[in-house]
Amino acid sequence: MSQVSLSHYMGRLEKVETSRALGKVIQIVGLLVEGSGPGLPVGAVCQVEPLHGGEPVPVEIVGFRDARVLFMPLGQARGISPGSTIRAVSSQATARVGSSMLGRILDGMGQPLDGGGPLDELVTRPLYAEPLNPLSRPIITQVMDVGVRAINGLFTIGKGQRMGIFSGSGVGKSTLLSMMARHTRADVTVVALVGERGREVKEFVERVLGPEGLARSVVVAATSDQPPLVRLRGAFLATTSPSTSATRGWTSSSSWTP
Ligand SMILES: Nc1ncnc2c1ncn2[C@@H]1O[C@H](COP(=O)(O)OP(=O)(O)OP(=O)(O)O)[C@@H](O)[C@H]1O
Ligand SMILES: [Mg+2]
Repeated sequence: MSQVSLSHYMGRLEKVETSRALGKVIQIVGLLVEGSGPGLPVGAVCQVEPLHGGEPVPVEIVGFRDARVLFMPLGQARGISPGSTIRAVSSQATARVGSSMLGRILDGMGQPLDGGGPLDELVTRPLYAEPLNPLSRPIITQVMDVGVRAINGLFTIGKGQRMGIFSGSGVGKSTLLSMMARHTRADVTVVALVGERGREVKEFVERVLGPEGLARSVVVAATSDQPPLVRLRGAFLATTSPSTSATRGWTSSSSWTP
């Protein structure tokens, strides 16, 4: 008599998602949507189905109050009303990244804005990755040429360094960043236009980067007219690495097909 092994089935059972995948909208105040479920962690993505038809609105879980789940929209919240069904999509906020993004212009959710067709061969990474252990960060030793002599000479920047440019309105921040995006010596430049004016995006892509600059760049544009969470996601998406070194503590995401 042959022996039956249940280990394969036990393994599959362990991966089954047992939390509730549905909820209903109870209250909406400003940009905050309160619902009865689903019982997922902060950062999970759901969809709200408008009662009277129309496109589902993507939302993200941002907190909990009493027994209610608090969401913020990742799109236009029009059409959501009390009683609308909330359906789980993904239990963790994820970013899909890869080399096919090169030369493309994406929105804060990672969707192409340039009409250039779908992106392929992307890997899934956690959007909100854990920060690196400070001791595992490499020491900055190499100079990076940003193509602006005044910065190279007086405020020399090193590879791996972060830098902030702060100034009043109209002083030249965007112009300076444009110069650096175009002339920095780097294999790939990732440009996140978060909170910029809508009209500045096309100008940046066509006049500043040009076809040559765009070919070695990835542009993530989450302009000032986008919901706050989409702008936040845009910044995280632009700083997500396709390599696995920055993804400690990450378990593959369970998802529901809406
Ligand atoms: N180095 C410079 N020399 C001369 N003009 C400049 C220089 N840098 C920027 N400008 C001009 O100043 C104006 C404002 O620049 P820019 O849009 O870059 O400012 P900003 O700091 O991004 O403003 P905001 O905070 O409103 O976005 C533009 O017309 C630009 O051409
Ligand atoms: Mg500006």
